Amino acid sequence: MTNLLHLDSSHSGDSVSRRLSSLFAETWRERHGEAGYRYRNLAADPVPLISPAYCALGRRVERHGYVSPAKVPSLVEGATEGREWALTLPLIEELLAADTVLVGGPMYNFSVSASLKAWIDRVTFPGAYADPDSGESLLRGTRVVVVTARGGAYGPGTPREGFDFQEPYLRTYFTNLGVAEEDLAFVHAEMTLASLVPDLAHLQPVAERSLAAARAAITDLVARS
Ligand SMILES: Cc1cc2nc3c(=O)[nH]c(=O)nc-3n(C[C@H](O)[C@H](O)[C@H](O)COP(=O)(O)O)c2cc1C
Repeated sequence: MTNLLHLDSSHSGDSVSRRLSSLFAETWRERHGEAGYRYRNLAADPVPLISPAYCALGRRVERHGYVSPAKVPSLVEGATEGREWALTLPLIEELLAADTVLVGGPMYNFSVSASLKAWIDRVTFPGAYADPDSGESLLRGTRVVVVTARGGAYGPGTPREGFDFQEPYLRTYFTNLGVAEEDLAFVHAEMTLASLVPDLAHLQPVAERSLAAARAAITDLVARS
């Protein structure tokens, strides 16, 4: 069985990134069935922010070197740390079980939404993705597809080309976890504000082309999953 972990992180009721990620997910489910599909809407059902107890447990685990999630309970001190671990472990297990991770995300203030960042901070528990014997990443071979929506445009040659801290951040984050560059794909729907902001109305054709290209790229990516 193949597993898809689908995360959405837009706080909008009418979200372009959510529509696009669902295009991927629906096609994937038609191909692979429901059994391996796991969905989290991180905006509607937020992951709690990490706490001092989470950090204390993480530091203790780091001092022990590579500790697999199975051995973390032996290092937990007190009920608060136990609750933090109980919140964290299912997220780690979902990520480890996934063959493909699909992330739908809006650009907020040139980067990711706080709800996605909360998931990242919690799920990135020390040592959780390292093989305890070799230290190699357990996420080597995991595929990650990130589908974003942006109000503006950030492609090469645009005035705001250097303002995109969303793709570079997520690219660094996932490759640092061990995901291979060739297993990481980004799809962007840009200029989504053109249909709302009167001053940007002349850019609606750009937005329409970007959306059509995003849909085509998703169809292509899911066909290869
Ligand atoms: C809090 C907030 C911050 C935003 N910041 C940016 C930004 O920095 N750059 C940008 O191009 N668009 C920005 N936008 C516009 C969104 O990126 C755009 O509406 C996009 O379509 C959101 O994705 P969604 O449709 O999936 O919700 C922002 C929107 C919100 C609500």
